[in-house]
Amino acid sequence: MSDKNPKGFTVFFTGLSGSGKSTTTDLLEIKLLERLGRRITVLDGDEVRQHLSSELGFSKEDRDTNIQRIGFVASLITKHGGIAICAPIAPYRETRRKVRQIIEQYGGFIEVHIATSLEECERRDPKGLYVKARAGTVKEFTGISAPYEEPENPELRLDTEGLTVDESTEAVIQTLKKLGHID
Ligand code: ADX
Repeated sequence: MSDKNPKGFTVFFTGLSGSGKSTTTDLLEIKLLERLGRRITVLDGDEVRQHLSSELGFSKEDRDTNIQRIGFVASLITKHGGIAICAPIAPYRETRRKVRQIIEQYGGFIEVHIATSLEECERRDPKGLYVKARAGTVKEFTGISAPYEEPENPELRLDTEGLTVDESTEAVIQTLKKLGHID
């Protein structure tokens, strides 16, 4: 593989709302751009829901549709040698497996579980949604009134409590190196 035609890959973050997916994504994007000089495409959960999945809710069916759309876009990016970072909750194991299957036809799929505990996410509650979920005004909320199926064999699991965002991001980069996706 020549440097002129590097292989594509997708970093797929999964974890609860408030777990740190977006902050880790932001720093990873900057570090990869600096390091590789390659542009990164970010598919953030909240942004995708604004632009690509605005008609969808949070039933299992709608979440699966949302994740399949994200997976489809990431597969095109990967196919064409690009780098995608996805950062949805993606709570269902089977749906994540399907996305992996599609993307691995074209390049790397690196699943990163941001394993911040529910207690910590709820303590942070950056959008005030956990309070609403507990009160029942937000329904089907992941971790409270809807399931989160933990990844069994992710390429990396980040126990973010006790780690800085910088350390978490470095761990992702080391994993990408170890798996041969970057030098
Ligand atoms: S996913 O389940 O389909 O992967 P996604 O990552 O797109 O979820 O969207 C999650 C974001 O939507 C959360 O970070 C939160 O801001 C918001 N949200 C609103 N309602 C819910 C809900 N019922 N469950 C989870 N997240 C919700």
